[in-house]
Amino acid sequence: MSQRTFSIVKPDAVRKGYTGAILAEIEKAGFKIVAIKKMSLTDEQAQGFYHVHSARPFFKDLTRFMSSGPIFPMVLEKDNAILDLRKLMGATNPANAEEGTIRKQFASSIEENAIHGSDAEDTAAFEIGYFFAGYELK
Ligand code: TYD
Repeated sequence: MSQRTFSIVKPDAVRKGYTGAILAEIEKAGFKIVAIKKMSLTDEQAQGFYHVHSARPFFKDLTRFMSSGPIFPMVLEKDNAILDLRKLMGATNPANAEEGTIRKQFASSIEENAIHGSDAEDTAAFEIGYFFAGYELK
């Protein structure tokens, strides 16, 4: 069944000029790009996005990184979108990511790992609403 998920091309990948190549992988895998924009986050906005990780030791570095430059947040749609995007992304740490995954190809470390993808239906709903208004999601 058709499902929506939320993704971000992270600041490291945008800085390195990988945005187009990552979007090409996403489209090649059958995702429709429902909405996309370029923007930068404040540290406070990044903290709100990653609030589930607020007690983790890497939280401060993570929000500093996520607010360090432009990102491309987007909403993607296909059958089984949430799990299929997680597979296409590869493991959080690119050292453990499978060959051909986005993180294997474009990420440089566990923190600077090129792409975000929602991990469940409830987080996808929260994350889509954090970045996009209903009228942008036609
Ligand atoms: P997590 O939700 O565990 O990974 P994923 O992005 O694969 O869903 O963590 C969120 C982000 O936090 C992750 O993409 C990068 C960062 N992070 C670190 O910087 N260090 C870590 O040890 C972990 C687990 C995550």
